Amino acid sequence: MSDAIRVRLTGVGGYLPRDVVTNDDLAKKFGIETSDEWIRTRTGIGQRHIASGDETTASMAAEAARQALDYAGVDVSEVDAVLVATATPDQVFPAVAVQVQARLGMTAGFGFDISAACSGFVYALATASALMQSGQAKKILVIGSEVFSRLLDWTDRSTCVLFGDGAGAVLLESGGEEGEGILSTHLHSDGRTGDILYVDGAVGCPSTSQHLRMQGREVFRHAVVKLSQAVDEALAANGLTGQDIQWMVPHQANLRIIDGMAKKLALPSDRVVVTVDRHANTSAASIPLALNEAVRDGRIRKGDLVLMEALGGGLTWGSALIRM
Ligand code: ACO
Repeated sequence: MSDAIRVRLTGVGGYLPRDVVTNDDLAKKFGIETSDEWIRTRTGIGQRHIASGDETTASMAAEAARQALDYAGVDVSEVDAVLVATATPDQVFPAVAVQVQARLGMTAGFGFDISAACSGFVYALATASALMQSGQAKKILVIGSEVFSRLLDWTDRSTCVLFGDGAGAVLLESGGEEGEGILSTHLHSDGRTGDILYVDGAVGCPSTSQHLRMQGREVFRHAVVKLSQAVDEALAANGLTGQDIQWMVPHQANLRIIDGMAKKLALPSDRVVVTVDRHANTSAASIPLALNEAVRDGRIRKGDLVLMEALGGGLTWGSALIRM
């Protein structure tokens, strides 16, 4: 990335719905033919947060954004743009980002949503970074917010146990020291694999269920290969090796995938931020939620080199390297 305009990450925030549903709850209260043992062994998931009626993609996004602004000590009037990565907007339009602007009292600047499924946050970071590099904005809120519980087929035990709801946000600001901020981002997609993870239909497709469908084993296979490539690409672009990485903040789909990537980088497990056990897979919200947690509890500190990676429906996948 050019040294002309640096893009720093100065604020973090997150929101998790009030209701927590454990694996045992799914089996006992929801009547799903599953068990804590099955879900935990295959995915590392122990519980998830599920949004209630008043918790929407926009309301959760706005709360996470407020926290990110507070953390950075920046007033909303200084923000030039809001980007929301989501696969679960509350309405087809207006975009969630524009609704967030209204909720925050932001009357200037612009906002739009990014649709790249579970890779959405990495895509939004890359887009925001490019807008800042080109001088179109100096401060951007980048948010991932999802209510996947509303996309799930609750009669399909192979998918409904995997996901949760929530929102995470970061504030990006231009400026900073040499070598600080977003060092590079790497995006990929391949529509030929669209049929292994998708939502069956959309508004205007009345014959469809509008539920998430997935071939879990196929997704797993692609995730291991493609995430490895995206990580190698990020390291090579910056002349780094796995040993240089202080923290991995991966998309939280499955603990086995996360462990595989950590092993590849020879990163000890205490250098990997894991939330999948408590949040399950919150799609585009998972990376900023994990980052929020690790920055606020003091694990990730200023100067640390952080690697992010994600893969999702499309398939889409990518990585980002950030010096905090
Ligand atoms: N509880 C109990 N049994 C179940 C459940 C459940 N929730 N779901 C499926 N089973 C059963 C199946 O019916 C099957 O039974 P059978 O052998 O009698 O037919 C058996 O468990 C094995 O099913 P598989 O689908 O083959 O299970 P697998 O070991 O592949 O694990 C899983 C499934 C966890 C989804 C795995 O494939 C995976 O992790 N894939 C990655 C997908 C992923 O993470 N997706 C998230 C979205 S994409 C992303 O964010 C990267």
